[in-house]
Amino acid sequence: MSESLVTVSYIGATILFILSLGGLSHPETSRRGNLYGIIGMTLAVLATILGPRVTMAGVPWIIGAMLVGGSVGIYAARVVKMTQMPELVALMHSLVGLAASLVGFASFIDPSMQLVGAEKAIHEIEIYIGILIGAVTFSGSIIAFGKLSGKIGGKPLLLPARHWLNLTGLLIVIYFGNVFLHAESVADGMLPLIVMTVIALLFGIHMVMAIGGADMPVVVSMLNSYSGWAAAATGFMLNNDLLIVTGALVGSSGAILSYIMCRAMNRNFISVIAGGFGTGGGTPAAASGDAQPAGEVTAVSAAETAELLRDARSVIIVPGYGMAVAQAQHTVNEITQYLREQGINVRFGIHPVAGRMPGHMNVLLAEARVPYDIVLEMDELNEDFPDTDVAMVIGANDIVNPAAQEDPNSPIAGMPVLEVWKAKTSIVMKRSMASGYAGVDNPLFYKENNRMLFGDAKKMLEEVFVALKS
Ligand code: TAP
Repeated sequence: MSESLVTVSYIGATILFILSLGGLSHPETSRRGNLYGIIGMTLAVLATILGPRVTMAGVPWIIGAMLVGGSVGIYAARVVKMTQMPELVALMHSLVGLAASLVGFASFIDPSMQLVGAEKAIHEIEIYIGILIGAVTFSGSIIAFGKLSGKIGGKPLLLPARHWLNLTGLLIVIYFGNVFLHAESVADGMLPLIVMTVIALLFGIHMVMAIGGADMPVVVSMLNSYSGWAAAATGFMLNNDLLIVTGALVGSSGAILSYIMCRAMNRNFISVIAGGFGTGGGTPAAASGDAQPAGEVTAVSAAETAELLRDARSVIIVPGYGMAVAQAQHTVNEITQYLREQGINVRFGIHPVAGRMPGHMNVLLAEARVPYDIVLEMDELNEDFPDTDVAMVIGANDIVNPAAQEDPNSPIAGMPVLEVWKAKTSIVMKRSMASGYAGVDNPLFYKENNRMLFGDAKKMLEEVFVALKS
């Protein structure tokens, strides 16, 4: 394949990636978006393999690598549960970071690179920055994987003088960058490169360890953005335009997502990166499940819940992480259909960080074929709770916690929440009094107009459905 045909294919792939991102922004068009992405990626890979830069001798290596990588990917996609998706995504980000760092080292020691003068300096800056971003992304994503999978506690690690530590690390990285650029040989340049890589790895670990449970969504989307910039840096190092453009697309869309997440959490982006957020003014958030319940709650049965729903004119359902765990979305859809047939106005209120990944609830509800027009964003229906008869909370906790508004010392203080307690009656469906991801107690449970329906969400909803129909 000639160079110009490769360029045309790359432009085609770029357009398909942009269309893919556009499509993925709405549930209705997301399948099409995915398809564009698949076609674009196939085109990009074929054009690269068949292009003039790959020699015949390299093809078996590429095919071998694709077979190994593809098999691991297919296996992971088949066995991973929907609730484990965020961890898988974090692991994938770490691989992009690792690849960027390895490509950086490889292009530094590549003997065929005979650059001089400004070209050499530019290439070395690309290598230094590429390895830096790659190493931060790699170690940060591994820690994020640990936190999301519960292997590492949600409690933020707050080292004394952490900001000074970060600043010192940055100054050392700048100093060694200068040493690296003035190195006469590969052997001379290796030491500063390795020192910087170690500092970048430590920085990635420190940055994510310092973030409190409830702020993890921002970190996940931020690492998503970093992985894009790491890919773009790889593109610069390998002189591959498509990788630069694709990396920039992922990097900027991840940055926009981080901004949206920050707004949803009412957090300042810089403060989240600097760490220590989710600590509620110095009181570290407890690890998941640590908070002690305080007060008395009113428990209801499935039959009583059905009674409340039957008598309602308007119902708002607020799904959370527990609905994903219980895989209760299909039963939720059946109940929704039934209630709507009885003339009851049923809508869904979706918090931007409900579940464990952006759009988690939208994906589940779309899978269960809940009509899109009744699935609304938090901002679109938060004012409607006072006119709502029943707010049904299914496996959600942090996103309906009034402490975010009422307690300035709460680790989630300031985070916008769905104001379910303003409905005539709120019903919370969960298995126990355990706290949510942020590890804080929820005063909603003790409110006079709140009822608790204890049990697995799917099982309880099935009982509610049976009671409704009887
Ligand atoms: P959480 O606050 O984590 O609450 C989920 C609740 O579901 C738990 O309290 C749990 O209580 C209940 N539950 C678990 N399994 C259940 C089952 N089988 N049946 C019924 N209930 C079950 O979830 P949320 O309200 O969706 O809030 C999301 C939290 O995750 C926020 O703190 C957010 O910051 C964080 N987070 C979000 C993301 C993104 S991007 N969405 C990423 C990382 C972290 P029981 O154990 O008593 O059942």
